[in-house]
Amino acid sequence: MIDAISTSGPGLTLRLAVGTIFLLYATYIYIQRRKDYDADRLFGEKHGCMPLKRRLPYKWPLALDAFKRQYDALVAGNLLAFQSEYFEETQVGQTFEVKLLGRVGYFTLDPQNLEAILSTNFEDWGLGSRREGLYPMIGEGIFTQDGHQWKHSRELLRRQFVRIQYQDVKVFETPINSLLAALSSQTGVIDLQPEFFRFTLATTTSLIFGEPFAGLTPKDHEVFEENFDYCALIGAMRLRLANFCWLYNPSKFKQACAEVKKYATYYVNHALKDQEENGEEEAADRHPFILDLYKELRDPILVRDQLMNVLIAGRDTTACLMSWTFYLLVRHPTSLERLQQEIHSIATNGQNVTRAQIAKMPYLKCVLNETNRLYTQIPVNVREATKTTYIPRGGGPDGQSPVLIRKGFGIGFSPYHMHRSKDIYGEDANEFRPERWEGPQLKNIGFGFMPFHGGPRLCLGKDFALTEASYGIVRILQTFPNLRLGPDEPKVQSGQEKQTLTIVVASADGCKVLLS
Ligand code: HEM
Ligand SMILES: *[C@@H]1O[C@H](CO)[C@@H](O)[C@H](O)[C@H]1NC(C)=O
Ligand SMILES: *[C@@H]1O[C@H](CO)[C@@H](O)[C@H](O)[C@H]1NC(C)=O
Repeated sequence: MIDAISTSGPGLTLRLAVGTIFLLYATYIYIQRRKDYDADRLFGEKHGCMPLKRRLPYKWPLALDAFKRQYDALVAGNLLAFQSEYFEETQVGQTFEVKLLGRVGYFTLDPQNLEAILSTNFEDWGLGSRREGLYPMIGEGIFTQDGHQWKHSRELLRRQFVRIQYQDVKVFETPINSLLAALSSQTGVIDLQPEFFRFTLATTTSLIFGEPFAGLTPKDHEVFEENFDYCALIGAMRLRLANFCWLYNPSKFKQACAEVKKYATYYVNHALKDQEENGEEEAADRHPFILDLYKELRDPILVRDQLMNVLIAGRDTTACLMSWTFYLLVRHPTSLERLQQEIHSIATNGQNVTRAQIAKMPYLKCVLNETNRLYTQIPVNVREATKTTYIPRGGGPDGQSPVLIRKGFGIGFSPYHMHRSKDIYGEDANEFRPERWEGPQLKNIGFGFMPFHGGPRLCLGKDFALTEASYGIVRILQTFPNLRLGPDEPKVQSGQEKQTLTIVVASADGCKVLLS
């Protein structure tokens, strides 16, 4: 800079002027930062914030060793188990600082902090890097939005889920009949997991797209399924890379996203054409979801994107819940038998199981709670402070004081690990014991149990998912009363089996059972 100025020439005055402006600007920024910093400090003092003492240890620069070990564990299929051990071994407690690739962030497993982030101080937090990670796949929609836009999407979609509740279990009937037929046609050891992915794809597409579209061939559906799986896989990797997600954008990903969108566009166009040809009322019977969204959004692309958002939220989550439920039941024959008896005593007329009947199956609810606890879908998640805020616990020598979180900083949280905490669930926290939900102990658990989160962004599909899983489980157990663990299938402690971690957590070895 000095050199540049001292070498005189025709542009000297100009350069001096630019230099001065630059200096002024830098000073301004510095003062502004200082002001922000002071304001934040005062804010922290006001709320009794204390420094966060514990941080995740690392040895290599940029915490590359921690990064590498996690990557290795991910590939080996035991990342969540590795983290459990790592947290315990390093005694970082429930809330700690993480410094990964030079960025400071926070991590918490504390129900009180989760309640503050997701509910009490909801307005202070946003999705952070999720939007960028998933945008190429699902675009503008409830799962990628914050603020006003999110609120609008939420209202729009909530109507759809309310409507669905009045339809009892109709939307699940055709898909479950296909699933049962597919299972009946196989012999020997059968892997249920891929069948559940097919089943929930069928129910979710039927929910959002409406009546099946005859213009698409079975091959089209198959291609869609493959592309969707691939997109979800890469999308999850991009989420894990957080602010570095632009590093990973393979051309195959772009192409698969384009194909998935094309498929959804068929349905949107088909519904709009139906409306044009047969009138609003008649078409709305066949494609209520699409046409109601269109009425409000008035843009086929925005409608398509919202559909994609619901698809990504609803499909894998419920498939994995069902798969883990059977995975656990066949390893716990006493629980399986008790559930079979309950089903038998309530759904006596065979095929037509109703919502009202499902509501009368308390043990089934315990089984689902217990599975949601041990295999929390969307196991790990993040939020970013959109303004300077605080979390109520983790600071000070005893970790009981609030901690200041400055604007722009991120916090990771893991319902998966919290749900396996011995402090909350006792010494047998890693064991499958549906009975723990029967007594009064867990009635006021609050944010200590949050498979669907809580607060304003509570899962919109909670009722849909639980009804779908319940209905599916009942129909399968009615049809295959001898369902049991396949021979040679491993029985290891829950959490130690190999897992495939994408946005959700699936069993890497599937869910292998014998049906007859
Ligand atoms: C076992 C099954 C499911 C689980 C465990 C689950 C869990 C969750 C969780 C934890 C969130 C909050 C994510 C966040 O804010 O970071 C969420 C959001 C959401 N879920 Fe689910 N979900 C399930 C099934 C479904 C189904 C079947 C649908 C729809 C058919 C669905 C639709 C949604 C939507 C639209 C949101 C976004 C809500 C918002 O941001 O306001 N979910 N889900
Ligand atoms: C079961 O449902 C089917 C249609 O889904 C209906 O035709 C049949 O009458 C129902 N059976 C009973 C016993 O309710
Ligand atoms: C399952 O958990 C929910 C909390 O999300 C609770 O309200 C419900 O009572 C539990 N169900 C049973 C059967 O314990």
